[in-house]
Amino acid sequence: MAQAYLQFNTTNFCVGLSAAPVFLSQTPTTTRTTTRTTTTTTTTTTTSMAALSQVALLAGTLLLGVFLGSIGTLCLTSGAAFQTSGAEVRFLSPSSLALRVDGASSVATDDVVKHSLAHPAAKLEPAPKVCVVAGVGPGIGEHVARRFAAGGCRVALLARDAGKLANISETIPGSKAYSCDVTDSKLVEAVFAAIRADLGEVDALIYNVGGGAFRGYSNITAETLELDFKTNTLGLLLTAQQVGPKMAERGRGVIGVTGATSSWRGLAYTAGFAPGKFASRGLAQSLARDLGPKGVHVFHAVIDGGVSSSTSSNTSMHPEDIAETYYNLALQPRSAWTFELSMFAWADATWYSI
Ligand SMILES: NC(=O)c1ccc[n+]([C@@H]2O[C@H](COP(=O)([O-])OP(=O)(O)OC[C@H]3O[C@@H](n4cnc5c(N)ncnc54)[C@H](OP(=O)(O)O)[C@@H]3O)[C@@H](O)[C@H]2O)c1
Repeated sequence: MAQAYLQFNTTNFCVGLSAAPVFLSQTPTTTRTTTRTTTTTTTTTTTSMAALSQVALLAGTLLLGVFLGSIGTLCLTSGAAFQTSGAEVRFLSPSSLALRVDGASSVATDDVVKHSLAHPAAKLEPAPKVCVVAGVGPGIGEHVARRFAAGGCRVALLARDAGKLANISETIPGSKAYSCDVTDSKLVEAVFAAIRADLGEVDALIYNVGGGAFRGYSNITAETLELDFKTNTLGLLLTAQQVGPKMAERGRGVIGVTGATSSWRGLAYTAGFAPGKFASRGLAQSLARDLGPKGVHVFHAVIDGGVSSSTSSNTSMHPEDIAETYYNLALQPRSAWTFELSMFAWADATWYSI
């Protein structure tokens, strides 16, 4: 289904609207001049009426600007967005809003959507239509799935615990749960075949599986290290192999990988976690080098701190905010792709890897 994204600055819009009657009133002036000899009184009245209505329109549209700005501030502070199954209005800043319209047949192409009056040259990638989130629990995985679904995407949720997945899936319209251990190549193959049959070709893969042992080197067994490597890296390889070739063939797609502070830094107690995260980052770089020139955007997001929905803490990263960033990354214009970024809660200097 075609989707149109329009982004515009409400202040510019309202100022433009205010100016419109002034410009419009210039044209009829000529006509009035030619008939002035016979209709002087009427013209004067019409001109004052026109001036009055211009002032009224000017004031009205400026008030509209102030009103939209206040709604924008309110929506931004409360995180609200207006959404129906066919459209979404989201405030990007108090004075700038984005409007998504599904099924917009008047849009010539949904491949490259030109938008934003302020930056008319900005071109976003098309919004993904089928997304796989590998590694779904109540944190980042669920919220990423939720954000992509809100963008009109059908989302496959992958994790091992089928009961948990079913509960999450019930709350996300357009999602479907697939129980899968992503370190098992046979299972991965079967599950991705089912996803293609159920939902269609995959446009976006978010590899969010992670885990390992938070222990020092002397307490790490060979099995622990192997599991760390499999969870963080082998699963990424197996899932990327399922979607990469087709994305490259179509010349578009996105593969996002969740990293951690341990992707950049080994600490004394992360000997059973950092090695797998380092390897995952290395594989993400290889994927980006291979798939980037084929039109597939690969990014690696370093989650530099602890994730929690708690709003009472200034040091926790909210999974819904991380998910918003992932969604924006997925839509980035291809002339300025991000490969890697780090995110951290503003007051949590403990973890800063910068
Ligand atoms: N949470 C944090 O504070 C934090 C901080 C920095 C980085 N990260 C990174 O964020 C990612 C996870 O996000 P999250 O912590 O918010 O977790 P989450 O999205 O709530 O859940 C991730 C899910 O991955 C699933 N999983 C684990 N191993 C799997 C496997 N072999 N196959 C399939 N699914 C598997 C688990 O479910 P099942 O047990 O049902 O399979 C788990 O619930 C990881 O990459 C982690 O390193 C997290």
